[in-house]
Amino acid sequence: MTTEPKLGMLSDPDAYLPPADGGPDCAYCKNRRFVLDEQGVLKPCPRCGVAQARKVEAMRAFSSHAGVALQQTFFNFKTVFNGQEDEILRDCLEEAERFADNPQGRWLVMWGTRGNGKSHLCAAVANHLRNSGTPALFLTMPDLLASLKHLMDLQANTEQESYSGRMKTIKTAPVLILDDLGAESASSWSDAVLYEIVDHRYRNRLPTMIVTNCPLDQFDPRITSRLQDTDFVTVVENRAPDYRRRPPEEKHSAR
Ligand SMILES: Nc1ncnc2c1ncn2[C@@H]1O[C@H](COP(=O)(O)OP(=O)(O)OP(=O)(O)O)[C@@H](O)[C@H]1O
Ligand SMILES: [Mg+2]
Ligand SMILES: [Zn+2]
Repeated sequence: MTTEPKLGMLSDPDAYLPPADGGPDCAYCKNRRFVLDEQGVLKPCPRCGVAQARKVEAMRAFSSHAGVALQQTFFNFKTVFNGQEDEILRDCLEEAERFADNPQGRWLVMWGTRGNGKSHLCAAVANHLRNSGTPALFLTMPDLLASLKHLMDLQANTEQESYSGRMKTIKTAPVLILDDLGAESASSWSDAVLYEIVDHRYRNRLPTMIVTNCPLDQFDPRITSRLQDTDFVTVVENRAPDYRRRPPEEKHSAR
């Protein structure tokens, strides 16, 4: 058995090509970024990871991961105020870190009142996954619906731009972080979209983090039930006070 990869080639399979994409030099795919498997199917090169990185970038383009979210990390999430550890926040932080470290086959559902760091932790999970090269899609429910509506209006027909293409991307994203569930103005259409996404990811046990202000029993019972499957879902309630309204000296103290 040979360990040399077969290459997705134009003419000379052994010709050295300088990296055309600014990416790393890869001896395995000889900078073609693709290799052929035994069935003759082109596969992204498993060594240089450039195809994977492009996927991360493509998802970033329509995600809610922008602005302050880019700076929100586990490291700058405070759990100690006035010298006292807030156990609720410590718990939320630990669950988010656990999910980000190994999201495979797991769901994390976090719900609670306003301003206590739920979106911060979504962003921290997204940042952690991005930095470790895992394509993660971070969307708020209102953004998700707005982006689908936009595509519906465009009636675009390329795979990348079509409504069904976008739905597929969301349903099958390697990791989906869905923030502000229940903040959308609900309609039978938005309910159907949400159910289609949640059910697909549920049946395929695709890593998903879901965050909401609403008690879980306020959703469609089909959603509520899936969000609480004790086999693989961790539910955490964030009961910490509104960080936005904490006095500045509490926010800015080192501990
Ligand atoms: N424990 C914390 N440590 C540091 N910053 C925090 C913490 N909790 C919240 N923040 C900051 O407070 C602001 C509000 O937090 P965030 O947006 O995460 O709240 P939320 O729970 O998503 O609120 P909402 O329910 O209104 O969506 C953000 O700027 C966030 O970075
Ligand atoms: Mg939020
Ligand atoms: Zn390669």
